[in-house]
Amino acid sequence: MRIPMIAGNWKMHKTRDEALQFIYAINMEVPKSTYVETVVCAQAPVLRDLVKRQGENVRIGAQNMHHETEGAYTGEVSAALLENIGVDYVIIGHSERRAYYNETDETVNSKLHQAIRFNLKPIVCVGESLETRENHETDAFVHKQIEKALLGLGKAQVEKLVIAYEPIWAIGTGKTATSEQANETIATIRQRIGELYDEETADQVRILYGGSVKPENIESLMKEPHIDGALVGGASLNAKSFMQLVASAYNQ
Ligand code: PGA
Repeated sequence: MRIPMIAGNWKMHKTRDEALQFIYAINMEVPKSTYVETVVCAQAPVLRDLVKRQGENVRIGAQNMHHETEGAYTGEVSAALLENIGVDYVIIGHSERRAYYNETDETVNSKLHQAIRFNLKPIVCVGESLETRENHETDAFVHKQIEKALLGLGKAQVEKLVIAYEPIWAIGTGKTATSEQANETIATIRQRIGELYDEETADQVRILYGGSVKPENIESLMKEPHIDGALVGGASLNAKSFMQLVASAYNQ
């Protein structure tokens, strides 16, 4: 049984005060993490404050980290520091980082190895552009991203991964993939993992959908057999709409 997950990706939003207000608002409302895993991914400087105040069933995640352990990388954040301050999750390879900060499938792979080395749980993002989808190349493109991301990882490591399928054309645009489209692509990702590893591994890895997820569309997404939850940007900024998403995942 895969435990559903709702992960909020705040991106570059919220001051410390706003972040703390949010965490206090949701702490008592969040269902037991054995039913739904509720994750909040915030900007690095506020992570320690959130970890200190997270309710029993809330998990805190970072939005990025560097693949080297330490060194002259001005402005970067290390996996060692994230582990040290008690962060659980880290988003790796978000399409915004691939588009604006030159992240490649190779850096995604190095970061994955590094995150696992420091006991962080990666949420690895993949997803195609509109052009790729219109050319009917989505499966091939996304499978290649997966293959390159997972290079060198063993079965036990892959089982624990969270993958987020986020079609680029659906992020922040208000255009959601239909639940059928999302389920179909996620099913092929699972199948590919089955081929690369085995069926048992494919059955265990959680695969989320991301891209304009809102309280209005979460239910139909969660009904799909291969969709294990959502990585949510815009609708995660407001505690009330975030909790509506968590409640839908819980009720599913
Ligand atoms: P969105 O962002 O929900 O605002 O579309 C999703 C994401 O980028 O993870």
